[in-house]
Amino acid sequence: MSADAHRDAWAGGVFVTGTDTGIGKTLSSCTLLHALRARGLRAVGMKPLASGCESTPAGLRNEDALALQAASDPRPAYGDVNPYALPAPLAPEIAAREAGIAVDLAPMREAYARLAAEADAVVVEGVGGWAAPLATDLMQADLVRALQLPVVLVVGLRLGCLNHAILSARAIAADGCRLVGWIGSGVDPAMLRIDENRALLAARLPAPCLGWLPWQAAPDPAALAARLDLRP
Ligand SMILES: Nc1ncnc2c1ncn2[C@@H]1O[C@H](COP(=O)(O)OP(=O)(O)O)[C@@H](O)[C@H]1O
Ligand SMILES: [Mg+2]
Repeated sequence: MSADAHRDAWAGGVFVTGTDTGIGKTLSSCTLLHALRARGLRAVGMKPLASGCESTPAGLRNEDALALQAASDPRPAYGDVNPYALPAPLAPEIAAREAGIAVDLAPMREAYARLAAEADAVVVEGVGGWAAPLATDLMQADLVRALQLPVVLVVGLRLGCLNHAILSARAIAADGCRLVGWIGSGVDPAMLRIDENRALLAARLPAPCLGWLPWQAAPDPAALAARLDLRP
């Protein structure tokens, strides 16, 4: 398939949500970036809001945002990748209150627009699961609707994932957003019957599986990119 066809299908980019926190959103987002780049697209990552940052001479830096920046080409400015860098590793509302920061949609929209101007696709990683609020009166769905992005759901493959995945897919649709695919993430090396679970997910989720990333001791997003099927 031509780079043009992929560019059309992935124009603007995608919002990556997950069944929970710690289930492979960052790994999947970085893998998506490499997969898009391998198909000839300029692809950059974004983590609009991150809680849990290290203080560096350059400013506050978050691990997810740094990984997304490193997987991007062209290389975006850190401030555009991660407009809200909250120091404490807490739920966004609590971390923002602690930092005395008011989280608004506008800076995230503006940063996204700057990234989108330089790239064919922006892969935007969310915070926690779909219903994790960004601020008191700002849900992730508000951001996704404002950016008009389709959604990819990362399913952390572990016991309980069918419930989390089905609830997430329902909530995404109920919020007026469009689920375009899901990625299975092998977070639990001890999970039993992974293939059967993947088949049940595929039968029940209303969007195609883009691929699955089996558990690996040291997962490498560049090497995993070939496992994703990005056909429109
Ligand atoms: N397929 C996988 N194989 C091995 N480790 C994984 C896999 N997916 C995720 N992990 C690990 O699980 C942890 C959480 O993944 P991460 O992508 O940071 O999740 P999230 O962004 O959802 O919080 C990381 O240490 C990551 O390397
Ligand atoms: Mg992450």
